[in-house]
Amino acid sequence: MSLPKHIAIIMDGNGRWAGLRKRPRTFGHIKGARVAKKIITACVQRKIQNLTLYTFSSENWLRPSTEVSFLMSLLTRYLKKEIANLTKQNIKFQVIGELSKLPPEARAAVDYAISKTSANTGMNLTFAISYGSRQEIAEAAKKLAQDVLEGHVSISDIDESSLHSRLSTYPTPDPDLIIRTSGEKRLSNFLLWQAAYSEFYFSDTLWPDFTEEDLDLAVASFLARERRFGAVVDNEITHN
Ligand code: FPP
Repeated sequence: MSLPKHIAIIMDGNGRWAGLRKRPRTFGHIKGARVAKKIITACVQRKIQNLTLYTFSSENWLRPSTEVSFLMSLLTRYLKKEIANLTKQNIKFQVIGELSKLPPEARAAVDYAISKTSANTGMNLTFAISYGSRQEIAEAAKKLAQDVLEGHVSISDIDESSLHSRLSTYPTPDPDLIIRTSGEKRLSNFLLWQAAYSEFYFSDTLWPDFTEEDLDLAVASFLARERRFGAVVDNEITHN
């Protein structure tokens, strides 16, 4: 088994981490952003080609407005501060999600980071921001319907690949490995279509405590697995 070409991470547990220290949830998010920076560099060092981080879900808008504003300004500051560092590591930054919902400052920082790193040829780093997978699939269906209406696609030609190529993740390959921290074992509306054959790794570690060693444990667990994609392997055919 070779290294995962795409790792996606649900960075969960910032609030609980802060609560255990009797600090506000925002304190956990600040530490969480620092850990994200470290793990991004660790993935570059390990030659991972694609990394996707679930940074803000479409459901996160329902959090108290003070927390939402804090997360948006943290994201804005993070991107402004990290652009030079991303380029130094040859990282290409991209985003999936409903960017039209972002406050103007955050939107501008996202757009600037995308354009400043667009010529980089190393790891693709995708932040899922204001992202919801069901919305993404509905949006792809809408595009497909529009293409049928305009005569670019005929209904009989619709197949998996016609929907797949209209998802916001296209042409990034599907994640080989999805990691979720903090002991929760759910996908929470993250990459539902793309996760069809992903391997899952659930860590009890809260995101602010997640380290490079934890990343290596997740990759080692992935490497020890046998991926069959619904088929059988040769020795099963001989023995059955
Ligand atoms: C989950 O913790 C975390 C999020 C809301 C998204 C992840 C955000 C960060 C890591 C900080 C911002 C990152 C960058 C790169 C700017 P939670 O609040 O749901 O924790 P809980 O489940 O313990 O309450």
